[in-house]
Amino acid sequence: MSPSSHRGRGAQGDHELWRRAPERLHFPETGGEAPWDTWRSRPAAQQPDYPDPAALREVTARLRSCPPLVFAGEVDDLRALMGAASRGEAFVLTGGDCAETFAESTADHLRLKIQTILQMAVVLTYGASLPIVKMGRIAGQYAKPRSNDVETRDGVTLPSYRGDAVNSFEFTPRARIPDPTRLMDTYHHASSTLNLIRAFTKGGYADLRLVHHWNRGFTANPAYARYESLAEEIHRAVKFIEAAGVDFDSLRDVDLYSSHEALLLEYESAMTRIDSRTGLAYDCSGHFLWVGERTRDLDGAHIELLARVHNPIGVKLGPTTSADEMRGIIDRLNPEGDPGRLTFITRMGAERIRRVLPGLLEASKADGRPVTWMTDPMHGNTITSSTGYKTRSFDTIMDEVRGFFEAHQDAGTVPGGIHVELTGDDVTEVIGGSENLDDAALGSRYETLVDPRLNHQQSLEMAFQVAQYLATGA
Ligand code: TRP
Ligand code: MN
Repeated sequence: MSPSSHRGRGAQGDHELWRRAPERLHFPETGGEAPWDTWRSRPAAQQPDYPDPAALREVTARLRSCPPLVFAGEVDDLRALMGAASRGEAFVLTGGDCAETFAESTADHLRLKIQTILQMAVVLTYGASLPIVKMGRIAGQYAKPRSNDVETRDGVTLPSYRGDAVNSFEFTPRARIPDPTRLMDTYHHASSTLNLIRAFTKGGYADLRLVHHWNRGFTANPAYARYESLAEEIHRAVKFIEAAGVDFDSLRDVDLYSSHEALLLEYESAMTRIDSRTGLAYDCSGHFLWVGERTRDLDGAHIELLARVHNPIGVKLGPTTSADEMRGIIDRLNPEGDPGRLTFITRMGAERIRRVLPGLLEASKADGRPVTWMTDPMHGNTITSSTGYKTRSFDTIMDEVRGFFEAHQDAGTVPGGIHVELTGDDVTEVIGGSENLDDAALGSRYETLVDPRLNHQQSLEMAFQVAQYLATGA
């Protein structure tokens, strides 16, 4: 992600925006408002109800003068890679928390999460012989849409927790009031997280020669044992390359892109900047942004904002999506059919994907404009365990992944990537996997504040399975 690694862009000086305070930019054609502020006249779902609008304005004014978190050249690189994934020339791996928290944005948690993504990426790269685009739900995934505005416990009703970017999980009236200063904290946590990511991915930690060191746990565990022998093969291959006198930087460094749901419009629009080279607007809060199933109304504020930024963007598609609706989204977000611009992230549920996805793939083929297809096998498969936990079953998750590959095989379209909720920690939130986590085990280390995540070992198992689908078909 370092500017020096940009392909097809000039030097760093191309992106001079961070030297100009955007509030001093003048937009005569809109009467002074930023051109991407048109979302303000659209209905906006899932926005916090801030009691103090003046405090909010103060925070967003400060955010507008903060340096961008990512740079236009990196965002363009990712867009090109997403285009490659739409053609089957690369495969995208997105992993990370359902909701990142400020408290867990520590070096240890982040390292384990990054390590998990790297291990999955190694398994996929080696197993599928394809470049893997690595992306985290990381450094920005601090806000959550909620189905209920309020939560009731023991007869007490308070505003729902909407993520650390908005309020606190603690169940007290004070903690649950949306606090705009948390947007500033969001910026700073995203910034330090990105700094650590850049350090790990460019500072030697991601070096393929360390492929053994990322493994952990007992190799008696099938996933770890399998990883161990794969690591051994890669190690030998790398040794061979080294002995032959080749010293590729690419063995050492990795590009790990940052993504999150673009939910909080005040934050996203305050982080939007004009690239001085091209004059195009980029949402510089992260490289890749997506809109959720609950906020993707075609006339709504979220689609309006994302239509005006140049980032690669994703839209979640649930099981009730019609072909017309899908074409409407393409018309709004990628009318010219630019490769890599638009990703559909399907979250249908294992039961419904085989019935619903084929129709959308046919409609997309007929439409002709390129789409990058990814599967989110998590969100359509949430259940409640007999012990009362919100959970998901590993087998059901993998069944949706298989359904995704099958549908693409049948349609002759390209499965472009997977998008999963995971953590590097050994939590017990998803049942199943080779350690056969059952309902009773969920209580032992259930830590998520929102949705259940694959643990480290389940993530590796998934990577092995997906690598096989990629290599030999579902
Ligand atoms: N740079 C290459 C890539 O990103 C190879 C690589 C280096 C790699 N370290 C890695 C791949 C860690 C996966 C994981 O693909
Ligand atoms: Mn989630």
